[in-house]
Amino acid sequence: MKKYLYISLFVCSVCILIFIDNNYKLEKSERAAETETKPAASNLIVVDHPLIQHHLSIIRNKNTKSNEFRESSQKIAGMLILEATKNLPMDEIDVSTPIEKTKCRRVDPNNPVVVISILRAGLAISTVAERIIPGAVTLHLGMYRDEKTHKPVWYYNRLPKTFANQFTKVYVCDPMLATGGSAYEAIKECITRGANEENIVFVCVISAPEGVAKLLKAFPKIKIITASVDSKLNDKAYIIPGLGDAGDRTFNTTNIE
Ligand code: PRP
Ligand code: URA
Repeated sequence: MKKYLYISLFVCSVCILIFIDNNYKLEKSERAAETETKPAASNLIVVDHPLIQHHLSIIRNKNTKSNEFRESSQKIAGMLILEATKNLPMDEIDVSTPIEKTKCRRVDPNNPVVVISILRAGLAISTVAERIIPGAVTLHLGMYRDEKTHKPVWYYNRLPKTFANQFTKVYVCDPMLATGGSAYEAIKECITRGANEENIVFVCVISAPEGVAKLLKAFPKIKIITASVDSKLNDKAYIIPGLGDAGDRTFNTTNIE
């Protein structure tokens, strides 16, 4: 009788061990699947700063006038660009101050960067970026979202035939990342023309999880720098809570057909 008890105890322990092991393997494969579909956290940088929050509260407010909207958008843009450029290569030069000679570090002029503006709203970021990044080249892409299909419609492309990887960084600027259609088109165009995916940084003020997921799935080596990832898109593909139509609010065309 004792013998049967020991045997049943042994069989039970083996079953429990197999069950635990299978569960562990399942969890592990679930975790692996998660990391495959979820973007690496380091690809998405949400810049959280009291001044950014302050200016977000201004541009989100529907009563904010266009000139104040532009002003606050540009202030946020400056802070995002600061983050986006923090690892730019530097060199060292001799400088004579009125007092004595000293060594100064500066952005290496042999590593030029390109700022790409997705018209129209992208100008709110690119006009700030080109003022604060020494030697930046600014290029423009024109597209607007079709109201019914929510797909981007191209109307202008001023990219060079080939990037030939002469740029250290490619900053693609657009304040809104909603479905991700416009940003996808812009980034694909850069890569088709020879830009290195890992050199591309998409800079936007407000993003939707849908757009972030689309971009990082298609281009897992890019970086996205944003001031906020909002909750989702509404049925017109506008970001919730968002700020409405960034282009119209920037250029005061909300009531113009
Ligand atoms: C806005 C915005 C982006 C696009 C984002 O542009 O500036 O380019 O929508 O939406 P998506 O992620 O779903 O593509 P819009 O079409 O309003 O053009 P505009 O800048 O000329 O106003
Ligand atoms: N474009 C905008 O300007 N705002 C949105 O919320 C979505 C797309």
